[in-house]
Amino acid sequence: MEQNQWFKDVTFYQIWTRSFADGNGDGIGDLYGVYDKLDYIRSLGVGGIWFSPLYPSPNADYGYDISDYRDIHPDFGDLRQFQRVLDKAHRLGMRVLMDLVVNHTSDEHPWFQESRKSRNNPYSDYYIWRDKPNNWDSLFEGKAWTYDEERGQYYLHLFSKKQPDLNMDNPRVRREVREIMRFWLNMGVDGFREDVISFISKREGLPNGLPIPAVGGMMHYKDGPHIHEYLGEFRRVAEEYGAVQIGESPMTTVRSALHYLTGETKSMDMMISFDHMLADCIGTEYMHLPFSLRRYKRALTRWQYTLAGRGAWNVLYVENHDHPRIISRYGSERYWRESGTMLAVSYLFLQGTPFIYQGQEIGMTNIRLRSIDEYRDIASKQNYERFLTFESPAKRLRRVHLSSRDSARTPMQWNAGRNAGFTAGKPWFVVNPNYRYVNVEREERDRHSILQFYRRCIALRSKSRALLRGSYREFYPLHPHIFMYERVYGSAAYLIVCNFRDSETVITLPPAYRDKPLQLMLDNYPGKDGMSPVMEAYEARVYRTKR
Ligand code: NOJ
Repeated sequence: MEQNQWFKDVTFYQIWTRSFADGNGDGIGDLYGVYDKLDYIRSLGVGGIWFSPLYPSPNADYGYDISDYRDIHPDFGDLRQFQRVLDKAHRLGMRVLMDLVVNHTSDEHPWFQESRKSRNNPYSDYYIWRDKPNNWDSLFEGKAWTYDEERGQYYLHLFSKKQPDLNMDNPRVRREVREIMRFWLNMGVDGFREDVISFISKREGLPNGLPIPAVGGMMHYKDGPHIHEYLGEFRRVAEEYGAVQIGESPMTTVRSALHYLTGETKSMDMMISFDHMLADCIGTEYMHLPFSLRRYKRALTRWQYTLAGRGAWNVLYVENHDHPRIISRYGSERYWRESGTMLAVSYLFLQGTPFIYQGQEIGMTNIRLRSIDEYRDIASKQNYERFLTFESPAKRLRRVHLSSRDSARTPMQWNAGRNAGFTAGKPWFVVNPNYRYVNVEREERDRHSILQFYRRCIALRSKSRALLRGSYREFYPLHPHIFMYERVYGSAAYLIVCNFRDSETVITLPPAYRDKPLQLMLDNYPGKDGMSPVMEAYEARVYRTKR
């Protein structure tokens, strides 16, 4: 009997609260707004919510720089309001995951404030201090070391200067982490998404890395020497509560993910993969390439095949607060509805637990801002600066437009009214001007909208054992335009077919499906019988049959 496997049968919705819904009119999304929208979230058919960080934070990295792990950011509400949201979510049948960010804190966290005071205070060893820095770069801005006048030493920060890395080798720091976990689990949360968790154990002596910008030091801090030991300690706390843990590990390979997911070193229920988000870029979204369906399929299929049968389970997603909008990347704003719905089909029926990021379900697209000063995200600004010497401002701005995390952070578009219904005040960030058409209210009324299509996909998935737990097999992996795969469980089989081209494509069914009666369960071209060998631009179909 599988215990505590509920996460395999639900779809999650990710909330980046600041831009979700403003309940108190100050222009910033909050937990009052979330409370009012819980019924909407439930109406999508989802069974869980992941909140990006809700804690007090100076917002150097919008919440991923935490200054107090046991409270709620006053912009979002307070602990009482969080409890109300949690209880209501539970009443509606949705579990709730918090974001656990323990690779680093904010430099405004009291631990860091104490730590910088001297070399021998109770917190002096909570962070990583050195007299001489090594050659590592930060992933956000310049060198990974900043000199602190007060202490007279350098501290390590793999992200921004305002995000000093915790010294996880210190047992007291690990005890703090366990206590933070308990604090939220005692309130009733159901688990954690764990931020850059594969970076928490650094190689002893902090040796120099390769002379490669940004990532040259990564070999010494990713999947580090004590990672599984430390995560094992956290796992024991999670297990006491039956909590789910989802690990984030940038640039992870599926092989390394297996160490977190299986065997003696199992510490996570799921690991977030990045490979399939690199189908239109190299390394990060900053270095663009034309979208390649083959790269997308190769990455997805590699994770599907490698995890299957090993007791490991995939996270399925195409958007979150760190990536630009998927229609603008892998789809087409011209074929907005068609490509938005097709992209949903392309990943929602894979094996794993799907995540939907706020606004994805209505087809929100990238924002185009006129100047870099209008962007808010530290990584976007850095991206603009990095290419200062060899690209024109127009080119750099276009790069930011294509890659910015801010595209995922514009306010949620609820209706065609003022500020897209996000706030009665002045929104903290620009609302995408397409809100008059792309909004929840209009899409609720349109039977064929992206929103209604997401609901149909989630409903179909959640009532089919084959789609939830069935095996996965891909057909025609080298086809440049078609993504075709099956999910099979017992005698039930589903065939999923997506055309990634902005024009018609002729398909050939795999031999096993040619002489079978196929039942069309979903098609994003309303009114079609789905039996023609010609797929329309960005058409997606889901067939059911018997084996
Ligand atoms: C990953 C988070 O998703 C991202 O938003 C953040 O900037 C980095 N980790 C650093 O915490």
